[in-house]
Amino acid sequence: MPLSKRSTLTQFLIEERRRFPGASGDFNALILDVALACKAIARSVAYGELAGVLGNHPAEGGTSVNVQGETQKKLDVISNDMFISANNWGGHLAGMASEEMDDPYQIPGQYPRGKYLLVFDPLDGSSNIDVNVSVGSIFSVLRAPQDVIDSGRDIVASDFLQPGTRQLAAGYALYGPTTMLVLTVGTGVNGFTLDPGLGEFKLTHPNIQVPPDTQEFAINASNSRFWEAPVKRYVDECLAGKTGPRGKDFNMRWIASMVAEAHRILMRGGVFMYPRDTKDASKPGRLRLLYEANPIGMVMEQAGGRASTGSVPMLGVQPNALHQRIGLVFGSKHEVERIERYHAEPQPYKDEASPLFNERSLFRD
Ligand code: AHG
Ligand code: MN
Ligand code: MN
Repeated sequence: MPLSKRSTLTQFLIEERRRFPGASGDFNALILDVALACKAIARSVAYGELAGVLGNHPAEGGTSVNVQGETQKKLDVISNDMFISANNWGGHLAGMASEEMDDPYQIPGQYPRGKYLLVFDPLDGSSNIDVNVSVGSIFSVLRAPQDVIDSGRDIVASDFLQPGTRQLAAGYALYGPTTMLVLTVGTGVNGFTLDPGLGEFKLTHPNIQVPPDTQEFAINASNSRFWEAPVKRYVDECLAGKTGPRGKDFNMRWIASMVAEAHRILMRGGVFMYPRDTKDASKPGRLRLLYEANPIGMVMEQAGGRASTGSVPMLGVQPNALHQRIGLVFGSKHEVERIERYHAEPQPYKDEASPLFNERSLFRD
């Protein structure tokens, strides 16, 4: 008999649980409910226009808009509903929060309440859905505050405002050429591929490690005029290639589905930046702390990579709002550390000195 039988997600979770003989099984059941939601979303994504799920979500007077002021796709709403219906009945959760819901979701009265909080981005990269490019779901599991567990009271937004270091589990599903679930329960990162015939996630990528060095970066360069000096410096040095200060050529990618970029980085290294910029003073960054930056940050750190605001480790940030935005840099450790160093250094760097922004710039006529 082999000592280990970690071939499916269920078996993997059972083996993880054996390390905690007192565990109730709630946590495993919760992860399996999340996996069920992801399988249901994968199926809707795969049917696409055949199921009539592409396009914007209709609402009175046009299309609906979420709390971020972003147009909702039909699949944003469908995916959110699938997360809720897979997770609201099992008795494992005290509540949920999502990119697509302004306020926290209360577990309906007819179901028992549990000790965990689930936070999610039901469909990340949803602007890509109508063009048949990979999208994903991102999730984070926190423990509910003790008084919520003891009293069973309704949850409020402040119950979710816990730093990323407090996450018990995090991960994402990627709906690409194959559907994958990438999960950390705080003991490294494991990747599972959906066998669509069997309807099971199988462990195909055990113990994923992010290479510490890379020659690949990802950033939306159309925002370059809004970047802060340390980011301009970093990107300029990459673009300068072999003849520049880095002494090597870099490659660039931008999928506009963070979950797909995170997966590429887990597989072969790289650095992703959606830094704080000056585009809109009311939005300190594009991505959201609780359901994008923190879960991806935990996955990266558990895989030996690094996640940062650009200046400080992401997982240490104390959130101040449910839908808080933040600058996000993650990926190969040595590159993220370099970007943090550039933010920490006094900044003699001048835009005018940059090959990106001078007369012969790539981004100017
Ligand atoms: P979401 O679809 O959940 O709103 O997130 C999209 C995010 C992220 O996945 C991606 O990296 C980024 O937005 C793309 O932003 P740009 O459109 O500025 O490139
Ligand atoms: Mn997103
Ligand atoms: Mn989303």
